[in-house]
Amino acid sequence: MAVLARWALVGIALIHGALAGFSSTATNNVAIYWGQNSANQAGSQQRLATYCSNTKLNIIPLAFLYVIKNPTLINFANAGDNCTVFSGSQLLSCPQIEADIKTCQSQGKTILLSIGGATYTEGGFTSSTEATTWANTLWAMFGPPPPSSSTNGINRPFGTAVIDGFDIDVEATSQNLVPFANQLRTNMDAATTQGKTYILSVAPQCPYPDAANNAMLSAVRFDFVSVQFYNNYCGVSSYVPGSAAQSNFNFGTWDTWAKTVSKNPNVKILLGIPGSASAGGGYVSGAQLAAVVAFSRGFESFGGVMVWDMSQAFANAGFLDSVAAALAGSGPVVTPTATAKPASSATTVKPGTTLASSVRSGTPTATTTGPVPSVTLVPQWGQCGGIGYTGSTQCQPPYTCVYLSEWWSHCD
Ligand SMILES: *[C@@H]1O[C@H](CO)[C@@H](O)[C@H](O)[C@H]1NC(C)=O
Repeated sequence: MAVLARWALVGIALIHGALAGFSSTATNNVAIYWGQNSANQAGSQQRLATYCSNTKLNIIPLAFLYVIKNPTLINFANAGDNCTVFSGSQLLSCPQIEADIKTCQSQGKTILLSIGGATYTEGGFTSSTEATTWANTLWAMFGPPPPSSSTNGINRPFGTAVIDGFDIDVEATSQNLVPFANQLRTNMDAATTQGKTYILSVAPQCPYPDAANNAMLSAVRFDFVSVQFYNNYCGVSSYVPGSAAQSNFNFGTWDTWAKTVSKNPNVKILLGIPGSASAGGGYVSGAQLAAVVAFSRGFESFGGVMVWDMSQAFANAGFLDSVAAALAGSGPVVTPTATAKPASSATTVKPGTTLASSVRSGTPTATTTGPVPSVTLVPQWGQCGGIGYTGSTQCQPPYTCVYLSEWWSHCD
């Protein structure tokens, strides 16, 4: 009996070590979005299970559920080709993703369904009652299967697979998201057992306060927040190595949000970065990535890294290794100086095109201050516009300056 008990404990310890999904106490969580095949190269997005034995990532938000109501729609780019549709609807039925979610969960991954994306344009809900109703419907579609008598003809795109929670990535102003997200949270909390906890995350852009998600950020209990530190002036490419007070890179502002505004005072903030130069504006890797991670780790709320997206990260040789190395912490930690309480004045931020599969952008050239000689031409992927940008707005031929957000234009 004693021997058996010890074996059982060893077994549990091993399983615990191997099954590391999102951890609210870890500083090395890695979330990578899958589903939009943003690299859009032949063969670049493989089926979900392909990525689940990889130990350099532990959270996969599936992107996206891009229409919530009238009717619910999901899109997974080329992976959707392996789905069929439920009869009489355009809703995908995806047995392969169903199987892969189970495979990934057995390998310890946390699988979330991401709601929104740049193409989400419904504007939310007309009332809190409608918001609550749709939260319950999504829970019946993707949470634990309801008893069949109460299914009421609900189609479940992932069949008997049960996701580990939701990620909200709304990028346009929308109504009644607070009662929607709170009802998702209520359903998750009610279903939580010793064996299964559910996770709720949100992915705002770095300018604070976030235009689309701000109401939820102060009223909903999130487990983690993946802040998009790209396509914006406040992104990782504007981090100044060695400086304790950063004037543009604003992880400190988000850390202050975590401590003073967040419903969950232990919320984790993931540093959202592009997975390659073509995945988003302000790509960094190597030493700059190690430096910005080392700096961000100085904040108590730092929980790891979020990457957009799987197809880009895996097409970019060595990138995930550099993320793992940065999180393993070989670089010196610069102790950040205290950051003031997040400003309550609204900053108007145009909804970014950040998580669209069509987004392509890259490493900015160093910005210059003062007059720029007219001969300076910005290379491909370099920044050519945005609030606060003072460099050249002219691109090297044949590139043109493409608007991505109020804060970021680049040559493409
Ligand atoms: C589609 O299914 C095929 C056959 O199982 C598989 O090899 C491929 O990886 C799948 N593609 C995606 C993007 O899921």
